[in-house]
Amino acid sequence: MGGLKGQHIVLIVGGGIAAYKAPDLVRRLAERGAEVRVVMTRGAEHFVTATTFHAISHHRVYHSLWDTETESGMAHLQLARWADIVLVAPATAHLIAELAHGFAGDLATTLALATDARLVLAPAMNRRMWRHPATGINVETLAARGARILGPATGELAERESGPGRMLEPVEIAQALDGAGPLAGKRVLVTAGPTEEPIDPVRFVGNRSSGRMGYAVANAALNAGAEVTLVSGPTALAPPSGAKLIPVRTAGEMAKAVDEHIADNELFISVAAVADYTPKQPAKDKIKKTGKTLTLELVRTPDILAEVAAAKKRPYCVGFAAETTDVVEHARAKLREKKLDLICANRVGDEHGFGREDNALVAISADGETDLGHGSKQVLAERLIALIAERLPHESG
Ligand code: C5P
Repeated sequence: MGGLKGQHIVLIVGGGIAAYKAPDLVRRLAERGAEVRVVMTRGAEHFVTATTFHAISHHRVYHSLWDTETESGMAHLQLARWADIVLVAPATAHLIAELAHGFAGDLATTLALATDARLVLAPAMNRRMWRHPATGINVETLAARGARILGPATGELAERESGPGRMLEPVEIAQALDGAGPLAGKRVLVTAGPTEEPIDPVRFVGNRSSGRMGYAVANAALNAGAEVTLVSGPTALAPPSGAKLIPVRTAGEMAKAVDEHIADNELFISVAAVADYTPKQPAKDKIKKTGKTLTLELVRTPDILAEVAAAKKRPYCVGFAAETTDVVEHARAKLREKKLDLICANRVGDEHGFGREDNALVAISADGETDLGHGSKQVLAERLIALIAERLPHESG
């Protein structure tokens, strides 16, 4: 993602204790060349004052929809047009819920609805609120619309509890927006979603993959500063802003797209649920229901990941193994057979996996296992990317 120099950032400050870090965030963004205007919610005013933001941003601070000093009294439209990025930090559970549902009861939410700018959220809240399914679904909804989610980090929370919910440090947020994280300068290709193999012009062989895990991985790689190409089968999701999206339909198209774009990538993360078989000869016209049975002849598709991993000049290769039984054993076998650097095993078909908001992952390499735990796909993707970032320079050769 290109740097922050000259970027217009509207910072929406939500009403949580992490708001005390927001003035520092303004400074960090400005240090990297961004121009910042601050919008405070009513809740934020309980934690920090407009005077602080005014002094640091050198600009007036916006509070109200009914501000008569702005163009035709319409601060929301003026700011919505001006912004390249709308950054919500801290993004409280309440603000996230309002944004997910399109509420427009104040200046912050109205301008978020009125803008075409990239929406970026840095959540901060109590760990139970973060783990609540309502928050999880709201975050997934925003991510599915293309919002970038930065954090939260896990650690000590203000209420003396520990867990996920800490806002990322201002310097980390500024780095992530500036493309300066642990994968800065790295090119990453991610495959995501299902493939659809045509039977005839209206029917296909598909699978239940929603694409959420792959999109979360792409989002986490972007947050870590990588340049991301996302080769995606058909999903209902908006791509994370900043990723280069290459939409495909079939396994064959996915193989071709990966082949065309893999050169110069240091990392390949294959999250797509690629069909293993495809109809040998899709019918030209819609198949009529004449016979009592219908036999489809299927042929093997190329194993995209194994082919990339077998190449002479290859990126660091990460696979996913969705299994219903003996998850870790099967994943280990795939790690060896496909000659991968790392494989993520996840159980599907019960309470986790395909189409679900949350997941459980174990990352396996030749030298051992790392349990990435259980959580939202976004949180697991962040942990996976952190693990890969640690290993990449040592293992990619
Ligand atoms: O062999 P299996 O399909 O279980 O392996 C899963 C891993 O291989 C995933 O990372 C998936 O994206 C990748 N794969 C592929 N091309 C295929 C089949 C699977 O890249 N044709």
